[in-house]
Amino acid sequence: MKKKDLPQFLYGGDYNPEQWPEDTWSDDIKVFKQAEINSATINVFSWALLEPQEGEYDFSQLDKIVKTLSDADFDIVMATSTAAMPAWMFKKYPDVARVDYQGRRHVFGARHNFCPSSKNYQRLASDLVTRIAKRYCDNPHIVAWHVNNEYGGNCYCDACAKEFRQWLKGRYHTLDQLNQAWNMNVWSHTIHDWDEIVVPNELGDAWGPEGTETIVAGLSVDYLRFQSDQLLNLYQMEKQIIEQYSPDIPVTTNFHSLPNKMIDYQKWAKSQDIISYDSYPAYDMPTYHPAFLYDMMRTLKQQPFMLMESTPSQVNWQPYSPLKRPGQMRATELQAVAHGADTVQFFQLKQALGGSEKYHGAVISHYGRTDTRAFQEVERLGHDLRKVGPTIKGSMPNAKVGLIFDWSNFWSFEYVDGITHDLQYLPIILDYYRQFYERNIPTDVISVDDDFSKYDLVVAPVLYMVKPGLEEKITDYVAQGGHLLTTFMSGMVDASDNIYPGGYPGPLKQVTGIWVEESDAILPDQDVKIALTGGQQLSGHLMADLIHLESAKTIAKYASEFYAGTPAITENKYGQGKAWYVGSRLDHDSLHKVISMVVDDLSLASLAQNTNLEVTRRVTADGKELYFVLNMSNDSQPLPDEFKEGYYDLLTGQSPKEVLSAWDVEILAK
Ligand code: GLA
Ligand code: ZN
Repeated sequence: MKKKDLPQFLYGGDYNPEQWPEDTWSDDIKVFKQAEINSATINVFSWALLEPQEGEYDFSQLDKIVKTLSDADFDIVMATSTAAMPAWMFKKYPDVARVDYQGRRHVFGARHNFCPSSKNYQRLASDLVTRIAKRYCDNPHIVAWHVNNEYGGNCYCDACAKEFRQWLKGRYHTLDQLNQAWNMNVWSHTIHDWDEIVVPNELGDAWGPEGTETIVAGLSVDYLRFQSDQLLNLYQMEKQIIEQYSPDIPVTTNFHSLPNKMIDYQKWAKSQDIISYDSYPAYDMPTYHPAFLYDMMRTLKQQPFMLMESTPSQVNWQPYSPLKRPGQMRATELQAVAHGADTVQFFQLKQALGGSEKYHGAVISHYGRTDTRAFQEVERLGHDLRKVGPTIKGSMPNAKVGLIFDWSNFWSFEYVDGITHDLQYLPIILDYYRQFYERNIPTDVISVDDDFSKYDLVVAPVLYMVKPGLEEKITDYVAQGGHLLTTFMSGMVDASDNIYPGGYPGPLKQVTGIWVEESDAILPDQDVKIALTGGQQLSGHLMADLIHLESAKTIAKYASEFYAGTPAITENKYGQGKAWYVGSRLDHDSLHKVISMVVDDLSLASLAQNTNLEVTRRVTADGKELYFVLNMSNDSQPLPDEFKEGYYDLLTGQSPKEVLSAWDVEILAK
C-alpha cells in the first residue's frame, strides 16, 4: 500500500513526559507551541513501564501522553520501545542479552543490547509491538512509526552462531564452495562440518578491536553482513506487525553515526518508507562531514529524509561538549535541510533530571523557562521553518556527481592485513567528497547498485571489493560516455575477499587501461613526490601504486623514490567515456589540482565559486530553485557574486545581505 507523506514540515523531537509528573505536561506543550514545535517523538524507551511483568500490560500513561499531544494537535512520531529491555526480561530469559566480542554475556543495564537471534526477544518484542500498533493505529495524529532505536552492534552468542551457519548455507550451499570462497586451505582452516564454523570473535579468528583485525576476512565480512541482516530481520518483523494495523503510515528506524559501520544502510534503505537520521557532529568535525552524511541519507532513497535527532545546544557523551555558538544551532539544522532534510527534530524536548543524559541539551532546560539563549534560538528557527517549510518540503537537488560509498568495501578494506595499518575507508572517501563540497558541486553518495547513468562523473575511491556484475556495470557506463575516477586499492578482491589474479586493479584494468605491479607503503611522516605533466608538484601519502600503462596515458609521474618517472595518475579513454586512476593518497592541495582538471574537463557546474560559504540547491516539484547559502563558520563572509542580482531571501522576504555574519543562513530564490 502506498504510504502517506508526512503532513507537514515536522519541527519537534524526542519527548519523554513519563519522566515528569502529569501536571507539568500542559506547560510543556505551551512552551513548545511558543517555539512553533508541531510534533513529538514518544515512547522510545518505555518497555519497562508498558509491560511491568511478562504479559501484563499497562498503557494508561501512554494513553494520557498520546491524548495530551493529540488534543494539542501535535503530529506524533510513535516509537515501539523495543530498544531497551526491562530488567525482568534479562532475569527470566538471559539469552535476550547480547554476547560481546570478548565472549561475555551481558546482564541487565544499558540499552541497544539485545541478541538479534534470541527467540525470546523476538517473541516479547512482537507481542509488545502488536499491542502498541493495535491500540494506536487509528489515531490520526500519528504521522510516522519509529521502530526500535539506532540499531547497531553485534552479538557473538551460540544462537547467532547457529543462525550464521544457516545464513552461510543460503549463500554458499556446500562446504566445498564455502571453503573455496574463504580460501580455507590456508592455515589448515578447511571446514568439514557446518557445525565446525564458529563466530569470528576475539577468542577465535579475529583479534584487536571489533571489526578491525581478522584472519579470514571472507568469514569476518560475512559475519558483518549476517549481523546487519539479522538486525534488519528484527526491523522487518516490527514493520510487518505495524503494517497489519497501520498500512498507510510511513515506518522508519533512525540511522546514526558517521555512518555506522555495523549496519549496511544501503541494504536497509529498501525497507524504510522514509529515511531518518540522528545527527551529532563532533565539535571538531569539519562541516563537510555532516554534509556528506546528509547527502548519503538523501541518496539512500533519492528522497528527502527526516532529521530525527540533533541537539539544540550540547551533547553529554563526547569527550568535550562545547555549546553551540550563537546562531550555530540554526545553521547546523538548516545545513541538514539544505542537503535534503524535511524535518528538524531534537533530542530532547525536555532535559532529563537524572540518568545518563541529564547534561544533554534540550529545548526546555533544567531551568524550565523560556528566557534562555538555547530556547530563543529554537524559537527563532521555529518561526523560520513555519515560513519556509511548506516551500522546501519535497524538493530535491539534481546532482551530477555520484560518489560511491559501499558497506562491503568499508568492511573488507578495513580488514586488509598488509601494506599499511592505516587503511581507513571513511577518511579517503571524505577526501574526495570534500573536493566537491568546497566547490559547491552537488554530489550524491551512491551505492554500487545505484544507476550510474544519470551522473557525469562517478567517483569510486578505494573500490576495493568488486562484486559480481560490477565490472560490466562500470565498463558499460564508461563505454557509453560516463566518467570514472578511481584510486589505489581498487578492484582488488571479489565478494568473498579473494584477490583477482592477473594484475591489479583486476576487473577495472580494462576500463582504466593500466595494471599495477606492486604497491609501496609510505611511512606516516613521509610522502612520495608526484609531478603533474604541467609541472605542478603534488604529494602522495599512505601508499603508492607502481603502474604500467596499457591504453592509458600518464597525467602525473612519481618524482621521488626508485619509481620516479613512472606513472602515478593516469587517464584512459574508453569507448565514449574516460577513466582516471590516482595511484596514491594525495593531500588536500594536491587532490585539489587533480580534481580541478577533471571538473574543467567535464565542465561540472558549481553553484557558487570562490567562496567560503556552503551553497546547495533544492528544486521543488514545480521547478522553483531554492539556494541555501550557509555560513558554517564563526567569521563573516561576503555573499557570492552569483547571487548579487535578482534573488530574494525566503526567510526575510528581502534581497540577500552583502555579507553573511557568523553562522548566518539565507535561502534564496528568484
Ligand atoms: C542517540 C539516541 C538518543 C539519545 C541521543 C543523545 O541518538 O537515539 O536516545 O541518547 O543519542 O545524543
Ligand atoms: Zn546473539
